[in-house]
Amino acid sequence: MGLDREPTLQVVHHLELLLIFLGLILNGSNVNAQRPNIVFFLTDDQDVALGGQTPMTKTKSLLGDKGIIFNNGFVTSPLCCPSRSSILSGRYVHNHKGFNNSLEGGCSDSHWQQTQEPTAFPTILKAQGYTTFYAGKYLNQYGFPNSGGVEHIPPGWDWWTGLVGNSVYYGYSLSVNGTLEKHGNNYEKDYLTDLIYRHATEFLRFQTKDHPFFMMLSTPACHAPFTPAPQYQNNYANLSAPRTASYNIKAEDKHWLIRQAIVPMPNDTVKSSDDIFRNRWRTLLSVDDMVESVLMQLQVKGLLDNTYLFFSSDNGFHLGQFGLPSDKRQLYDFDIRVPLMVRGPGITPGQVSEQIILNIDFSPTFIELSGGQIPEDIDGISMVPVLTKNTSTPLQNTFLVEHYGEYEMAIPGCPQYKDQYMANCNGHCVCEDSRNNTYGCVIQVTDVSSFKYCKMEDSEVIFVLVFRCNLNKIIYLQNSLELLK
Ligand SMILES: *[C@@H]1O[C@H](CO)[C@@H](O)[C@H](O)[C@H]1NC(C)=O
Ligand SMILES: *[C@@H]1O[C@H](CO)[C@@H](O)[C@H](O)[C@H]1NC(C)=O
Ligand SMILES: *[C@@H]1O[C@H](CO)[C@@H](O)[C@H](O)[C@H]1NC(C)=O
Ligand SMILES: *[C@@H]1O[C@H](CO)[C@@H](O)[C@H](O)[C@H]1NC(C)=O
Ligand SMILES: *[C@@H]1O[C@H](CO)[C@@H](O)[C@H](O)[C@H]1NC(C)=O
Ligand SMILES: *[C@@H]1O[C@H](CO)[C@@H](O)[C@H](O)[C@H]1NC(C)=O
Repeated sequence: MGLDREPTLQVVHHLELLLIFLGLILNGSNVNAQRPNIVFFLTDDQDVALGGQTPMTKTKSLLGDKGIIFNNGFVTSPLCCPSRSSILSGRYVHNHKGFNNSLEGGCSDSHWQQTQEPTAFPTILKAQGYTTFYAGKYLNQYGFPNSGGVEHIPPGWDWWTGLVGNSVYYGYSLSVNGTLEKHGNNYEKDYLTDLIYRHATEFLRFQTKDHPFFMMLSTPACHAPFTPAPQYQNNYANLSAPRTASYNIKAEDKHWLIRQAIVPMPNDTVKSSDDIFRNRWRTLLSVDDMVESVLMQLQVKGLLDNTYLFFSSDNGFHLGQFGLPSDKRQLYDFDIRVPLMVRGPGITPGQVSEQIILNIDFSPTFIELSGGQIPEDIDGISMVPVLTKNTSTPLQNTFLVEHYGEYEMAIPGCPQYKDQYMANCNGHCVCEDSRNNTYGCVIQVTDVSSFKYCKMEDSEVIFVLVFRCNLNKIIYLQNSLELLK
């Protein structure tokens, strides 16, 4: 595209003059000032079904209530690395090929680095003149020697703070602009959520109204090992994991894997999942502080009015639903539904939207906001019409959820299942995941009827058809998905 030739100084000078002139005609200032800044907060494993948003009161009032709260944010794959790869690329898992959390499964592997990263949204935003900033968990296999080490900075990022490996709160390694930085166990220096915030603050010090920027803040909260900041470690002491309709319910009519659960769960599993519940909320309090502080800083610098703020998560979570102790990876509502809130210029505050928005929609949305060209071969749809034009016609009513069951992992707690390819032993060692947990689901929601059709690898089929005659569709769908009768 002519980028192989350095333009002469003369040409650059003329271009600048032309841009300044155009800017003056359009609005009396620099054209760059017109393009919005974008801040994207991405949490890890934060659910909707178990009230995952409840502790984040400041985020709700500063972001959701001042913008749009989406009731139907979904991920197209309920697992970290596949979902994050979809967020970055705008593609379904079968297209970006990051099938699971391992290198062999395409997580941050050479295929990803050669075919997906170079066309992911950060590169387009950068080409549009944005200054880009990343801090926190990236993809589960990022930063290890086999995936290019900490030297690998994914293309498109100017300020890069990438966590090596999966979410933790202390005792981790970072790639800071390609250089290894090790962290220990000191709250003030090392607590990862707070460190992400400190890096964001440093970046924001340099930002002005003259130049658009994109920031992605990707927290370890509320993923395992669920380590709260010291000031929050005793909050919610009298709460327990919500006893939802499917909590500790034996599911005879669900797919093979779900039918293996031990129900009722042993008491120590109930106790440990209640502990996990409280600690998840505690870790989110630090995220809530971060969101508030970033927003305040934008305000003090006079940047808030021209900044879109997005908040979401990479997948949901379950704690005791159908007797499954604690995890994601399942096709049910609790694992695929995620929080989603957006605030920004042109968005009418105080809206609650029933629009279906997917994780693959972030990439085209950011690209459109930056003024860039959305690549034709991505799967997502830009949500910009819903954000700024009050569009109420559904952006989309049909989507795919896919998951590739993991197997043959060495699971110390699961010797009895060795020959059956079991994986992922949680709580009381119902070994929770398997090759059989490979599925594709088509979900369609319309005003007349909704259905969810899931085909399992082992040829079991789950099909739910819900007819309805009112528009309270999603609540209805949610119930039917959870009980799936
Ligand atoms: C990382 O790189 C950016 C862009 O070059 C630079 O401005 C920033 O100071 C660097 N951060 C650190 C911690 O070196
Ligand atoms: C939890 O304890 C606090 C303080 O003792 C009390 O105000 C609150 O009502 C309790 N909540 C529940 C759900 O029991
Ligand atoms: C488990 O907890 C229930 C309810 O608290 C109690 O009734 C039951 O005896 C406990 N079972 C065991 C084996 O401790
Ligand atoms: C969207 O709706 C709000 C309130 O109904 C209205 O104030 C605003 O002008 C509308 N925006 C557009 C772009 O139509
Ligand atoms: C991940 O996917 C790859 C490719 O399908 C497969 O070879 C590998 O065994 C999978 N990993 C796990 C843990 O299932
Ligand atoms: C997988 O599904 C098949 C058919 O439902 C079943 O016979 C088998 O035991 C399941 N489990 C494993 C680990 O293959």
